[in-house]
Amino acid sequence: MYILGISAFYHDSAAALIKDGELIAASMEERFSRKKHDNGFPTQAIQFCLEQAGITANDLDYAVFYEKPLVKFERIMLTTLNTFPNSWDVWKEAMVSWLKEKLWVRTAIANDLHIPYDKILFCDHHMSHAASAYFASPFDEAAVFTVDGVGEWTTTTLGIGRSKIGDDTDSPTLELFDEQRFPHSLGLLYSTFTAWLGFRVNNGEYKVMGMTPYGEPNYVDKVEKVFNLNRADGSFSLNMEYYDFHQSIERSYSNKFLDLFGPNRPPDLEFFTQATNPERSAEKAAMDKNQYYADVAASIQYMTEEALISIANHLHKTTGMKKLVMAGGVALNTKANYRLLNETPFEEIYIQPAAGDDGGALGAALWAHHIVLGKPRKWVMPHAYWGKEYSNAECREFLDSHGLKYESFEDQEEKLVETIVDDMLNEKVIGFYQGRFEWGPRALGNRSILADPRGAEMKEVVNTKIKYREPFRPFAPVILREKAPEFFDGYPDIDKHEAPRYMLMVCPIKEDKQDKIQAVNHEGTGRLQAIDRESNPRYYDIVAKFGEATGVPVVLNTSFNLRGEPIVNTPQNAFNTFNNSDIDTLALGPYIVRKPS
Ligand SMILES: [Fe+2]
Repeated sequence: MYILGISAFYHDSAAALIKDGELIAASMEERFSRKKHDNGFPTQAIQFCLEQAGITANDLDYAVFYEKPLVKFERIMLTTLNTFPNSWDVWKEAMVSWLKEKLWVRTAIANDLHIPYDKILFCDHHMSHAASAYFASPFDEAAVFTVDGVGEWTTTTLGIGRSKIGDDTDSPTLELFDEQRFPHSLGLLYSTFTAWLGFRVNNGEYKVMGMTPYGEPNYVDKVEKVFNLNRADGSFSLNMEYYDFHQSIERSYSNKFLDLFGPNRPPDLEFFTQATNPERSAEKAAMDKNQYYADVAASIQYMTEEALISIANHLHKTTGMKKLVMAGGVALNTKANYRLLNETPFEEIYIQPAAGDDGGALGAALWAHHIVLGKPRKWVMPHAYWGKEYSNAECREFLDSHGLKYESFEDQEEKLVETIVDDMLNEKVIGFYQGRFEWGPRALGNRSILADPRGAEMKEVVNTKIKYREPFRPFAPVILREKAPEFFDGYPDIDKHEAPRYMLMVCPIKEDKQDKIQAVNHEGTGRLQAIDRESNPRYYDIVAKFGEATGVPVVLNTSFNLRGEPIVNTPQNAFNTFNNSDIDTLALGPYIVRKPS
């Protein structure tokens, strides 16, 4: 039985295909369309999923959309009518986009796939999130916590999943028993500050998080004016006088917000503080201004963490569960995830790599299989590599047809690994490309840029010569899973946990190790990826070999793309990125391409 899940028309459109409850393929549309955060109908991602399974749309038993468009339309209409005439522009824009395409999802799916209407199902947005986490997790029973900007009406749900993995007679249940509704939303709270701090909503939230270690949460009192949190049960509300996201297409914060927090940070303002650039302390006025923005970023991050912890504590009390699964855009807040693991009674937290709306495609398909059809569970997500693969022959064909010089290490795996490690030891930056690309927003070792993490200067090299991005944004360390407790502090046995496998948790770096991995040390913390050999042998062997040579089983890993572009998909994308940057070595499958030195 084949079920296709689809998410589209908001941001990060995606498709995922399951066969008898097991994932076959999944991808965001942006990897194919090359349009970052592509929100169109995911025609190419769907095509890829079908090809990967070797089927056509005729073979599909169901196609499931990740939310209910009519209910969402109702929310937008009611909200704009409530705030009319202020919301006139929002209403006008919504009418155009909804009448043009968003309302006709059933027709769009039927037309694209040529399947009858009765094969098309719709799953609630937050149920899609919940199912994407719970049914991919290794847990029989778990408390479920979804949290994002907004779905149809809902912004947060609490629930419980029960089933027995591997029991053929079991009928899984997934109940969402409590919710918070629009406009009261942790996602919209965070994105309002994201916009005020000069970053793009649904894109710049990581940048806010990147700024936070340079600030202190000195403005929590101000944040508490715009956001009310009841720490006893985690209930919260936004003080709507401070927001405009429900009635403006231009700005998510109101004039009252500006009166409270002051002028917004211009997007092109250069960011530097005493901590990032002590040599510029003469530029005091600019430095103070930046310090204020960093302090506000730290304050909103702190309050978001407090809210998530309060909700999770309440969820634990209500359900008595030991395990927690999370999804929704806010579950990608990797700093909060560390505190959730450490400061709540939950023993384990599971978040699958596509925790945002792209993951809704997977959740919708799994929901149909386990809840609508009542099928038992037998599958647990083993890794994050569900995208398209280009074979060695295709890589070679690309290189040959473009007349590119390369060294071949076909059937010489050990030599390939040694060569890549040698280049890293010689301070080269590697574009590392192999296998099927990753599911979710992170590059996890199949479309990654790799480099020596030991010296601080490598951060500068990768930032200024390759990524062309804000200098305060950190690079991630990839570490052998079994070595993670030697380098990372905090929770005992960090290697036993799932979240660091997918780079979904920021942890403190042990004090005596911080100067050993300077390029991935972000003010004493790192967003580690802890890898095992089983899920990615070549990647693991590279980190292990680098560890043998240096005593540091850690490599700098950042996504293989240029600033503003989606992560590379094809050999052509990889070569273009290599060619248009100062990446020194391209490892395209078993072929090594080097720039003339
Ligand atoms: Fe969502």
